[in-house]
Amino acid sequence: MHDTQHTHSFSLQLLSYSTFLSPLRFWEISSFPMDWCQNGSDRSSDTLCSVAEAEVEEVDFSKVLDKPRPIERCKSYEERSFSEFSTICSPHPLSKIVENSSYPVEHLGNAVSLLPKSGMNIPRSLILDPHPILSEGWEALRRSLVYFRGQPVGTIAALDNSDEKVNYDQVFVRDFFPSALAFLMNGEPDIVKNFILKTLRLQSWEKMIDRFHLGEGVMPASFKVFHDPVRNYETLIADFGESAIGRVAPVDSGFWWIILLRAYTKSTGDTSLAEMPECQKGMRLILNLCLSEGFDTFPTLLCADGCCMIDRRMGVYGYPIEIQALFFMALRCASQLLKQDTEGKEFMERIAKRLHALRYHMRNYFWLDLKQLNDVYRFKTEEYSHTAVNKFNVIPDSLPDWIFDFMPLHGGYFIGNVSPARLDFRWFCLGNCMAILSSLATNEQSIAIMDLIESRWQELIGEMPLKVCYPALENHEWRIITGCDPKNTRWSYHNGGSWPVLIWLLAAASIKTGRPHIAKRALEIAETRLVKDNWPEYYDGKLGRYIGKQARKCQTWSIAGYLVARMMLDDPSHLGMVALEEDKHLRPVLRRSNSWTL
Ligand code: GLC
Repeated sequence: MHDTQHTHSFSLQLLSYSTFLSPLRFWEISSFPMDWCQNGSDRSSDTLCSVAEAEVEEVDFSKVLDKPRPIERCKSYEERSFSEFSTICSPHPLSKIVENSSYPVEHLGNAVSLLPKSGMNIPRSLILDPHPILSEGWEALRRSLVYFRGQPVGTIAALDNSDEKVNYDQVFVRDFFPSALAFLMNGEPDIVKNFILKTLRLQSWEKMIDRFHLGEGVMPASFKVFHDPVRNYETLIADFGESAIGRVAPVDSGFWWIILLRAYTKSTGDTSLAEMPECQKGMRLILNLCLSEGFDTFPTLLCADGCCMIDRRMGVYGYPIEIQALFFMALRCASQLLKQDTEGKEFMERIAKRLHALRYHMRNYFWLDLKQLNDVYRFKTEEYSHTAVNKFNVIPDSLPDWIFDFMPLHGGYFIGNVSPARLDFRWFCLGNCMAILSSLATNEQSIAIMDLIESRWQELIGEMPLKVCYPALENHEWRIITGCDPKNTRWSYHNGGSWPVLIWLLAAASIKTGRPHIAKRALEIAETRLVKDNWPEYYDGKLGRYIGKQARKCQTWSIAGYLVARMMLDDPSHLGMVALEEDKHLRPVLRRSNSWTL
């Protein structure tokens, strides 16, 4: 990732921000939540801290118990002087956190009711499955907590001090998502709420790259807490892409933010956070960025390379599946969370239209299975007018050799990218799993994706789950597409590397499709190595046998991804937080072919 960046960049950054932010503005940013739930003021207890009935659409998964968990709100954190925060990351001793426990004992079942009610911060999953890896994982996750003025506001990307920090000492929005799920599942929603509110505040910054203003709604890729030792004062500093290698704004951050807001609402039953005017506005700003009209002829979202998890040049520019699936999910989550006021209604209409078109486009043009592959292989080219079958003028000679062996008899997937004369046939894990979770995929397509994972087990899971994409770019292709990137050599990092974080997505997708054994099997493989190897960021090699060349150790989302997968498999009712059923009011969509019907 951002290897060439200097560790000092944030102090420089701070200076450059202060040149265009008035003192008042800066104060607002740094002192914003002060904290609404912390001081027990009337306002906070009335509007923010009441437990309201969930308005979020109930999800009806088979065999899934899906009750919102009531929580104690407004737990005050201890008042602490800023001098206690000498660094941005203040690992808390476990005992401190135990005091802040909020998981209600009645939800833990019989096994737990015997436990004393105090000190209830023992993760539920630990009680249900006393596996040593779980306790190691929880301890590591807690060590990664980042505090801002005494409150936990996120988790650091990696706690690896052996290597240059680059920007792994920051809280990444996308990386925090699995951490947030783990905390929600464990009945600790406060940190998630803090994170949502802090990042919302960062969104309202005036963002500039060189002399260019970024769109109002852009959410940061990451942030960190800056401690001013002179004033003994803490402020937040964010990166919207202006420090990132390649200077790309993170398109995925805003989507993850909306999806997290829904997960929080669903898990706690607390609708008051999403209903806050600030949150409603935050959502509208994000939506405005991606729903605005332009020159597009497709409903998919056009992006630059490196604007998501794969944040380096990897040929994922155009219409990458990861962004399209997150976009779809975020639109569906937003339509559940937006209020039915005048502004909200207007957005709901725009969302509905876009979802309708996006669903059609994705299900038809991104979908590939044996039949579809055979059709492309036989495509005619240079067809003009609306009668064209080969609408994007794909030249059959551009089909890569590997795809013919990779495609199983049963199974299929959403390919990496569809744009004029360019189909990127690579498999991308995140986008496909998210397509299942959001019901962007039909039921048949979801089954087919899981079939493909099972049939291509060696390639996609191998000795460490899971390949971020398949296959790797090699030789000439690697030179042209990555620009000779030494970090993304074949079967390493983003280029066919194996990322343990992705296991939570596999777990959720396999539970949703009624095939949890797939994730169980993958998790057992991961368990043999993750702790021993100290939670690497990624693994290298065709089978994922080797700890990644430049992989950080103690990578938080590897830890959180594992914990979430384990907890979800132990208690599938957690699935409702991250999964949506097919929209029942959906108008029938015409299909180009029924090739995905198994
Ligand atoms: C790498 C990953 C990116 C992640 C970041 C922090 O850059 O590519 O997805 O957010 O590290 O872990």
